[in-house]
Amino acid sequence: MQEERIQFVDLQAQYLTIKDEIDAAITDVIKNSAFIRGPHVKTFEERFSALFGTDHCVSCANGTDALYIAMHALGVKPGDEVIAPAHSWISTTETITQAGGKVVFCDTTLDDFTIDPKQIEEKITPHTVGIIPVHLYGQPADMDPIMAIARKHNLWVLEDCAQAHLARYKGKLVGTFGDVASFSFYPGKNLGAMGDAGALITNNEDLAEKMAIFARHGGLKKGDHQTEGINSRLDGMQAAILSVKLNHIQKWTEGRQRKASYYSERLRDVQSVRAPRVFPDREHVWHLYVIRHEDRDGLAKHLADKSIKTVINYPVALPFLPAYSRFNHTPEEFPNALANQSRILSLPLYPEIPDTFMDRVVDAIRSFQA
Ligand SMILES: Cc1ncc(COP(=O)(O)O)c(C=O)c1O
Repeated sequence: MQEERIQFVDLQAQYLTIKDEIDAAITDVIKNSAFIRGPHVKTFEERFSALFGTDHCVSCANGTDALYIAMHALGVKPGDEVIAPAHSWISTTETITQAGGKVVFCDTTLDDFTIDPKQIEEKITPHTVGIIPVHLYGQPADMDPIMAIARKHNLWVLEDCAQAHLARYKGKLVGTFGDVASFSFYPGKNLGAMGDAGALITNNEDLAEKMAIFARHGGLKKGDHQTEGINSRLDGMQAAILSVKLNHIQKWTEGRQRKASYYSERLRDVQSVRAPRVFPDREHVWHLYVIRHEDRDGLAKHLADKSIKTVINYPVALPFLPAYSRFNHTPEEFPNALANQSRILSLPLYPEIPDTFMDRVVDAIRSFQA
């Protein structure tokens, strides 16, 4: 008999725990026809910035736009170079190009998958304007040395927090270190909408205003276009849904942390698996639980045969994608990202995942090793 399929993420399970609140919020938006901007968007922006203790939140249509809007407002222009990690989702770097800049990749570290601060300085040239650390999988990048380098060279820092809502570095929330931080609320993210959504937070008033103006056709009032902009709005329905989910994000984060510990404890003695390493000064929020295995593809197939869905985030590091063939990068330039790309495997993890499912995942991994 085929066993029950274990999904990678089960969004329905989360919805069922807060169905009444979500349904009421959606009904309220419809009743008031508050579809574009309006009170729900305002409330969400206020509450999201309050969560971080930042002065401003500028909502937008998705996490990719958030990066683009930030870099546009930071004034990226042709010839400017922006340093970004070699292993991330392509949004981090495609938006550098969209903003008119040049992508400069920096290798990640082997163990935490985030940009390696020790390698950043050698990437800096007179054209460098900024750094985008990505808190990949939910573990904060090593922000102290990154900020020290940025200060020394007068560079801006844009934190890509798409996978790291409420993660902390040395006790401080990520998103509050750099000049500005971008978030994605893609449905599967730790704080997920029911469609696309994104936001930026910053303490810089001038930057916040520039970002809001650019995201809203170049003007904050209808008909008053200071510049040309784009149309990147958080819609009222998503804002209302996100405000409901904000009430639960802390509990869900703790749930993810408990589930991740459950895996880590049970995988500790499995020799062939390298469980994710968490650095003692960082609070990981486990957007993804990423193990490494020398026969990753064999293991993934073995798990698929047992009805367990896994994902590879991300199978090809950015410099080696066809999208960046113009740079002619060689594997030797990014040895850590290269080593990780063929070994990483993300296991099913979400706050509601039953322990019995996790036991099945662990048993299946053990049976592959045997
Ligand atoms: C690291 C990272 N940056 C940016 C994004 C872009 O977010 P969105 O999908 O909302 O455009 C994502 C989402 O997948 C991401 O994982």
